[in-house]
Amino acid sequence: MMVQSVNLKWLSFKGSYLLARAHGSGYLLRSIRNMLSRLGQIRRCAASLSQSINQIAASRQKHTLPDLTYDYGALEPHICAEIMQLHHSKHHATYVNNLNVTEEKYQEALAKGDVTAQVALQPALKFNGGGHINHTIFWTNLSPNGGGEPQGELMEAIKRDFGSFQKMKEKMSAATVAVQGSGWGWLSYDKESGRLHIAACANQDPLQGTTGLIPLLGIDVWEHAYYLQYKNVRPDYVKAIWNVINWENVSDRLQIAKK
Ligand SMILES: [Fe+2]
Repeated sequence: MMVQSVNLKWLSFKGSYLLARAHGSGYLLRSIRNMLSRLGQIRRCAASLSQSINQIAASRQKHTLPDLTYDYGALEPHICAEIMQLHHSKHHATYVNNLNVTEEKYQEALAKGDVTAQVALQPALKFNGGGHINHTIFWTNLSPNGGGEPQGELMEAIKRDFGSFQKMKEKMSAATVAVQGSGWGWLSYDKESGRLHIAACANQDPLQGTTGLIPLLGIDVWEHAYYLQYKNVRPDYVKAIWNVINWENVSDRLQIAKK
């Protein structure tokens, strides 16, 4: 409707101009004032249309908490239902909400050309964006039917790059347990070398965004991921989580990463 309104105003504007040419200078001056007035209306219509488009675009970009494909209690006894419920519905949900708030502020700063505000929002974007990315991967890395060993190409790559599946597990467990404070341990793919790597990140730093390595399997070692069940014994939690690793998901991620 708004586009149609703009077209009608343009036709009217063009008509006034032709009449002005036919009727002399007095009519011409009145016509110019009318034209300027109509131009102002067109600008206001265009601004309103642009604002509507921006609002629609902003509403479409809202992040949402992904559903789990299993129940909160499905990973017991390795990860208890209370941890899973709090972890997913409270902690991850908070990252999602704060990411949306941060992006909204960032859009405002961009619209104003306020570079200082944009820079000031970077830590919140990294923390909440990383929290959303990391947990979204984490839930799919886990399965009540998980555990055991990977098959096919993933297993071959693990043997090639670590010597054996057991050695990879030991190396990743050690790196993950050794994270100081809160963070993540990762099995990842280095696209440049075509090899698998073990990595660790502090806080919610997203692996790919901060190192370039593509995340395949993440182990969350924030205390919220294990303290209710394992208290301060992080190594026991890391040992137990191997029983619920969804190797099919990790294999799928490797296939996508290699493309
Ligand atoms: Fe977490």
